[in-house]
Amino acid sequence: MDFQGRFPMFTSLRWSLIGLLSFTLVQAVSAAECAPDTRRGAEVFATECSVCHAVTKGTAGMMGPNLFGVYGRKSGSLADFSYSQAMRDKDVSWQAETITQLITQPQAFVPGTYMPYMGLASADDRQAVACFLKEQH
Ligand code: HEC
Repeated sequence: MDFQGRFPMFTSLRWSLIGLLSFTLVQAVSAAECAPDTRRGAEVFATECSVCHAVTKGTAGMMGPNLFGVYGRKSGSLADFSYSQAMRDKDVSWQAETITQLITQPQAFVPGTYMPYMGLASADDRQAVACFLKEQH
């Protein structure tokens, strides 16, 4: 199928995702400070992270650990994922601060990590992704 043929489907998927996120935001009082960022965060996640990470419950078998419910989770703690020793030993709770530090430069924050990602240059994009992940629970 050519790009023209696929584009309308992409657009409607995109709008339903935005609708779903807005609904989630209305539900989640604690998300107030993240509200303007979340839609951007979903886009950044899609382009930067989704090739390796799922955010839907129960999805396994990707290169990176499932990030559903990652907010508040201890680093390297999913039983069914084979983490590096570095990530197991890191012992942080994933919050906005720790997630943004990780994705700034994974090898600097967790030397020896298996996450083969160079880092996200834009601080706004890092914050937006962290806000998006906060909603995935
Ligand atoms: C090329 C694949 C790849 C990409 C792209 C990638 N990651 Fe990862 N990620 C991994 C792998 C592999 C691990 C496990 C690292 C380890 O065990 O050392 C990981 C670990 C993590 C963890 C720790 C999870 C836990 O359970 O402790 C977080 C949080 C994370 N990634 C977030 C992100 C975000 C946000 C992005 C996008 C900005 C991203 N990753 C992009 C492969 C990737």
